[in-house]
Amino acid sequence: MNAERRVVVLISGRGSNLGALLEARLPLQVVAVISPRADAAGLGLAQARGIPTRVIPAEGYAGRADFDQALQQAIDGFAPDLVVLAGFMRILTPEFVAHYQGRLLNIHPSLLPAFPGLHTHRRALAEGVAVHGCTVHFVTPELDRGPIVAQGVVPVVPGDDEATLAARVLSMEHRLFPYVLRAWAESRWVLGADGQVRWYDDSREQNLRLLWAGEFQ
Ligand code: GRF
Repeated sequence: MNAERRVVVLISGRGSNLGALLEARLPLQVVAVISPRADAAGLGLAQARGIPTRVIPAEGYAGRADFDQALQQAIDGFAPDLVVLAGFMRILTPEFVAHYQGRLLNIHPSLLPAFPGLHTHRRALAEGVAVHGCTVHFVTPELDRGPIVAQGVVPVVPGDDEATLAARVLSMEHRLFPYVLRAWAESRWVLGADGQVRWYDDSREQNLRLLWAGEFQ
């Protein structure tokens, strides 16, 4: 276990995933929280804990490349081991993604590779899937397609609408992300040279990469 591992979290708004990470008292250091929006509620969560925050307003830059460069500079100023996208709602340039290769994690509200992109809950309902969930994955240039670290599965139940399903998935996100980051801090999984994530089984007979909602247990 290495309590000194440094994490920078990028958010855009509400910050409930950031809140879950901070509440979990993980054996790592959240060294900064960065947002393109000054009104992101999640910034307050960080400030309340004395964690440095930065706002990089997207409007202040000529284009995506300039913004990403400013973002990269801000991030690198904190020398993180890992950069975590927790509801960061902007598409990043390939240059930015390449700079953080193997160090950039995202949480996405679907069981990838199903439903990359936006409106995942609406699309899951429209397809009539029986299970839905969330995925923590590495970011690569192709949107929502990087190596999967772990997934959390929830049922789709009769009567679900977009709001009820979103709430069920979000509460799974709040379990999955801290779980993955704790395991990272404890070196319980690695991204291999083959681009696949390998979890080290600690001899429990369970799939460490998969969390199921209570409804299934
Ligand atoms: C989450 O559903 C996350 O999966 C998606 O954006 C949402 C962010 O929510 N990428 P919050 O800001 O963490 O509350």
